[in-house]
Amino acid sequence: MADTVYRASTTAPVNIAVVKYWGKRDAKLNLPTNSSLSVTLSQADLRTLTTASCSAAYPAAAGDSLLLNGEPSDVAGARTQACFRELRARRAALEAADPALPKLSTMPLRLVSENNFPTAAGLASSAAGFAALVRAIANLYELPASPSELSKIARQGSGSACRSLFGGYVAWRMGDAADGSDSMADQVAEAAHWPEMRALVLVVSAAKKGVSSTSGMQQTVATSGLFQERIARVVPQNMAAMEEAIAERNFASFAEVTMRDSNSFHATCADTYPPIFYMNDVSRAAIRAVEQINAAAGRTVAAYTFDAGPNAVIYYLEKDTEAVVGTLYHVLGGEVGGWKDAVVKGLKPSISL
Ligand code: PMV
Repeated sequence: MADTVYRASTTAPVNIAVVKYWGKRDAKLNLPTNSSLSVTLSQADLRTLTTASCSAAYPAAAGDSLLLNGEPSDVAGARTQACFRELRARRAALEAADPALPKLSTMPLRLVSENNFPTAAGLASSAAGFAALVRAIANLYELPASPSELSKIARQGSGSACRSLFGGYVAWRMGDAADGSDSMADQVAEAAHWPEMRALVLVVSAAKKGVSSTSGMQQTVATSGLFQERIARVVPQNMAAMEEAIAERNFASFAEVTMRDSNSFHATCADTYPPIFYMNDVSRAAIRAVEQINAAAGRTVAAYTFDAGPNAVIYYLEKDTEAVVGTLYHVLGGEVGGWKDAVVKGLKPSISL
């Protein structure tokens, strides 16, 4: 029927890397200079819900559209267009093979997307956003694609989005093919493998980040000498050590690699010319607080990590909640200006799916 509206919905979670993606070897295809590894956060706390629909009755002149948290959002960008193109091509191949299928690939797409976390939280939402967009359209088109196949499409929207197609502990293998056919995500371990793992997001600033990840990466690749050392030696070591720590559920090792990798990533940013600083004084106070908590416990009970912005994500185990979260509230809420607000805005700890 000409006015049939075809529709599919899905959700995708946020992920926070413990071995960071930083640097593109191909900016158009979003091919990275190194592999990375992340932990997928709980969808109860942080997720994007996206509904994709298409219909021959949608006016062709209006084209494709996206409503993000109730506001019209641009779909003309090269990244979004790449995702649409890839998904339509796969649907068109199915339609060519089976003429009885409705020609969804030729119809305008309408996307409606909502985050269940405040946009003001200052969290990068592009990972969940592109993962949900790609899977919603793949479901709408009834594509027989595995999560790893879909991760190759989501990667072209936002690199880190490829890891949000999976729950638990997820690796993005950089691959070496020029066309990106082997640059995709896979699941290292399910969330249930390590159910005690928790993450606390400390919202230091809700402001939009100063230097976008794309231009920060470009500047780092172009001007940092330290970056060469990071991709050649530091990241391969961290990937191997992190996979081992997860396999053995060794929190001390997981935490050390997480903190070292965050430090290494931010060091390469400071090594660019001119330097890029994502962390601020409050971020550095969080690092000191985690060090104090670990020293007081006499073992490593907490790990910090920072993306391309000042907000901290603290990983810890459930049994150490009091030592970690309790002390953060106490130390940071009481002593450092700005922290009370920061911790109060912190999202609930939990990462299980
Ligand atoms: O996916 P992008 O282009 O927003 O880049 C994400 C970069 C970091 O968040 C800093 C690291 C990572 O691996 O997620």
